[in-house]
Amino acid sequence: MLLEDKNAVIYGGGGAVGGVVARAFAREGARVFLAGRTLAKLEQVAADISAAGGAAEVALLDAMDERAVDLHADAIAAEAGGIDIALNALGIAHVQGTPFAELSFEDYMHPVLAYTRTNFLTAKAASRHMVGQGSGVILTLSTPGARLSGQGFLGNGVASAGVEAFSRILAGELGASGIRVVCLRPHAIPEAVATSHTGEVFRGKAERDGTTVEGLLAEGMRSATLLKRLPTLAEVGDAAAFVASDRAGATTGTVFDLTSGAIVD
Ligand SMILES: NC(=O)c1ccc[n+]([C@@H]2O[C@H](COP(=O)([O-])OP(=O)(O)OC[C@H]3O[C@@H](n4cnc5c(N)ncnc54)[C@H](OP(=O)(O)O)[C@@H]3O)[C@@H](O)[C@H]2O)c1
Repeated sequence: MLLEDKNAVIYGGGGAVGGVVARAFAREGARVFLAGRTLAKLEQVAADISAAGGAAEVALLDAMDERAVDLHADAIAAEAGGIDIALNALGIAHVQGTPFAELSFEDYMHPVLAYTRTNFLTAKAASRHMVGQGSGVILTLSTPGARLSGQGFLGNGVASAGVEAFSRILAGELGASGIRVVCLRPHAIPEAVATSHTGEVFRGKAERDGTTVEGLLAEGMRSATLLKRLPTLAEVGDAAAFVASDRAGATTGTVFDLTSGAIVD
């Protein structure tokens, strides 16, 4: 198993991406600590993990609240003996598809402020415990908008570019302490659209573009990938487990691309 004896905290662990990564981490032997705002969603993921023989605990947490995030990390470290992996998988609903001339400053800034705030707070809280042990992995999430140009995703694109830059620079801050920082960049995951905040985001964008969510996925996204398909949730979970493991021990300060080739280096 890739993650035996590792303690992993997943902020937004009841979400589509957080949930599938939590299941993958647990399957690979990690003890997972799921944090989020809705107990039922967290408990569903924890129940799946327990049913498969894994170990999961849940906590209600507002991952925008600095004090609450710090206390939560302290409690996990005290109880479990440390934090080895931290993934921020929060999803922030936001507006897409609004023409620039009609986009309010508040709608533009909302994802930028929210994603950069929560990633700062959770990485700082977890890394305080990783520095002492001389090892750890901090994972973040972005979207292809970090590297694409186009219409209707200015705020989320800037937010994703910010998270990628944050991850790259933070890797420099923490590398000498043995802590790796890697950003996962999946393309839109069709299975997640039905359940996650991206459904709401894409429905709004599709309406404004005069298409459907499936039309948006097919024409705007799938056709522009090299593989002519979008990633699956399972692929994102498997990739996260590998990147978090010691097998990826030489990987830091970079983006692990899961865009099916929509973005190439
Ligand atoms: N889904 C995709 O296709 C896709 C593709 C590429 C990248 N990503 C990225 O992956 C990340 C997660 O997306 P997702 O699709 O998994 O989203 P999701 O299913 O909507 O889940 C997001 C989770 O974040 C939690 N959350 C939101 N605000 C919170 C807060 N203040 N404190 C604690 N928890 C909070 C939510 O809990 P509550 O419901 O309780 O609020 C929810 O469980 C995002 O960064 C997204 O950009 C997603």
